[in-house]
Amino acid sequence: GKAGHRHFMLKEIFEQPQVIGDTINAFVSASTGAIALPDLPFDPAKVPRLTIVACGTAYYVAMVAKYWFEQVARLPVDVDIGSEFRYRDTPFEAGGVAIFVSQSGETLDTLEALRHAKRAGQHIVSIVNVPESTIARESDRVLYTLAGPEIGVASTKAFTTQLTVMACLVLAFARARGTISHEREAELALALREVPARAAEVLRHDDAIQALAGVVAESRDALYLGRGTAYPIALEGALKLKEISYIHAEGYAAGEMKHGPISLIDDGVPVIALAPSDALFEKVVSNIQEVAARSGRVLLISDADGVARLGSKVRWSIELPKVDPFVAPILYSLPVQLLAYHTAVAKGTDVDQPRNLAKSVTVE
Ligand code: M6R
Repeated sequence: GKAGHRHFMLKEIFEQPQVIGDTINAFVSASTGAIALPDLPFDPAKVPRLTIVACGTAYYVAMVAKYWFEQVARLPVDVDIGSEFRYRDTPFEAGGVAIFVSQSGETLDTLEALRHAKRAGQHIVSIVNVPESTIARESDRVLYTLAGPEIGVASTKAFTTQLTVMACLVLAFARARGTISHEREAELALALREVPARAAEVLRHDDAIQALAGVVAESRDALYLGRGTAYPIALEGALKLKEISYIHAEGYAAGEMKHGPISLIDDGVPVIALAPSDALFEKVVSNIQEVAARSGRVLLISDADGVARLGSKVRWSIELPKVDPFVAPILYSLPVQLLAYHTAVAKGTDVDQPRNLAKSVTVE
């Protein structure tokens, strides 16, 4: 059942501290606290290139993973959505690894992309939530998300546990490839182990986010902005809002606003800025100021440092705990899920089963 929650989606949002913890524990050595390298059918040190393919929300996991693998494991990564990848004529490299991300393990576009990469001789790894699913069965190695059954059509806990598995995999690759110091690896592993506790703190903003959802519910459009790994989370926030509240929303790389979409800004369009105080923060500050100067109403989602720096320049802010930037995309997913959820409830849509959508898309 819904464990006392009004919708499965809300129950699943609130399960995240638990299921992220379960997923991490499957990778962490209880004795040392280090991320244990999952046993892989290839040597990560010898992989020339990674290809990551998925659809919808799972594709945004692939986008975050690209930043992580490139920065931390110094590995070039191509990402694509299933329906494009399978018909592109990709030149594959010998010894390449292709990773497929899917909650259901049955998404046809992702499955056919997997078969395409397999025919091209790539090693196939998948990150799947449903055991015994087709994608799991056809992979050389499956890394499971331990999210438990996800009933709401809008993906929430599957998304954050997919990010969690990716983060563990990135650390394992970085160690095998010698691209990370022991100290930094220990720091990142600790930051990851602390995500469940930090996620529980983030969820305490539920009431504040519910209050802001009233504003979004009255809007026709909304924009989500972020840079670096917050950019895919901006795309995820926009997808979630569209999917369940039927409000038009777009996610943009904050630096891309000035190349066109800033002309959309007026006081009727809420702009949700995802801005952890990381190396790119000052860049995001200028982007937010550009929006504010055009009477855009900004909701800033940041940490104490970010809110201290920018809070007076924006209309609303939500202060999340300060974390290592590496794990920020996992935590910044939660407020955008809650915002979409409460907006949909305010609009009275069918949150768990939005119109025109199926939980698992098994047609092309
Ligand atoms: O089961 P999958 O992870 O392969 O599903 C992929 C997408 O269809 C799915 O993530 C979809 O985008 C969600 N409904 C978004 O919330």
